[in-house]
Amino acid sequence: MEIERIKTYVHGLDGHIEGGIPKGSISLICGTPGTMKSSLAYSILHNNAVKDGIKGFYVTLEQEIKSLRQQMEKLKMREIEAVEIVDFDTMMKKIERKPDTNWIQRVGGFVKSAGKERGCELLVIDSLNALYSLTNIENPRREIYHLFKTLRETGMTCLLVSEISPGKAGFSHHGVEEFLADNIIHLDFEKKGGILSSLERYIGIVKMRATNHDTQYFPILYLKDKFTVFGREELELE
Ligand SMILES: Nc1ncnc2c1ncn2[C@@H]1O[C@H](COP(=O)(O)OP(=O)(O)OP(=O)(O)O)[C@@H](O)[C@H]1O
Ligand SMILES: [Mg+2]
Repeated sequence: MEIERIKTYVHGLDGHIEGGIPKGSISLICGTPGTMKSSLAYSILHNNAVKDGIKGFYVTLEQEIKSLRQQMEKLKMREIEAVEIVDFDTMMKKIERKPDTNWIQRVGGFVKSAGKERGCELLVIDSLNALYSLTNIENPRREIYHLFKTLRETGMTCLLVSEISPGKAGFSHHGVEEFLADNIIHLDFEKKGGILSSLERYIGIVKMRATNHDTQYFPILYLKDKFTVFGREELELE
């Protein structure tokens, strides 16, 4: 049976991942500071809303709504009703406060009911690291397993932003997330060019379950109003 997919709308990428990210799966969007994790996550929601009418829910625990919106406007992604952004303060007002649940469970429960209520198919949590900082995690493997289980129950396609500290191996804070996630989308950059050096950005699909994906680390640029990658074929032509 053909797997349904959500397009990334990163120009040139979907053709290398059988058309998109499997619907209902959980992806880590990971990278060191400034690798455009938030921009990529937002652009997937924005483009799916604009082009396919798919509703998205963006939980920003790092940045306030205003700052995130300003940043996305700079990237020519205008505010759109079908993408709802909630930040920590808005979430705090709406969250269910049961005495025996911790923050991770509360946030899991919140996105589950909010997503269902609004008919959202796409969810971003930006970032997992910020979510962890809200609570004392005694048993990361168990807590994160339960979070992922709750997220799967939502049926939404989930994009979880995962911050990597420079120089640290792996793709997530606790090291278990990368095994629990279905997909790992890695953003990276490299200094190139000697005396006139500049940063070159890359995107790599480290894993994507149920997908015959390309393993190239694609050069990625934000051009005009969208991300664009360059495959081997295009690079050889230049
Ligand atoms: N058009 C562009 N092309 C390339 N890079 C850009 C462009 N516009 C912004 N940037 C860079 O992207 C950075 C912001 O991207 P974003 O906030 O999505 O990254 P992030 O990985 O989420 O960062 P953080 O780790 O701080 O959360 C800016 O600080 C800037 O360096
Ligand atoms: Mg960010």
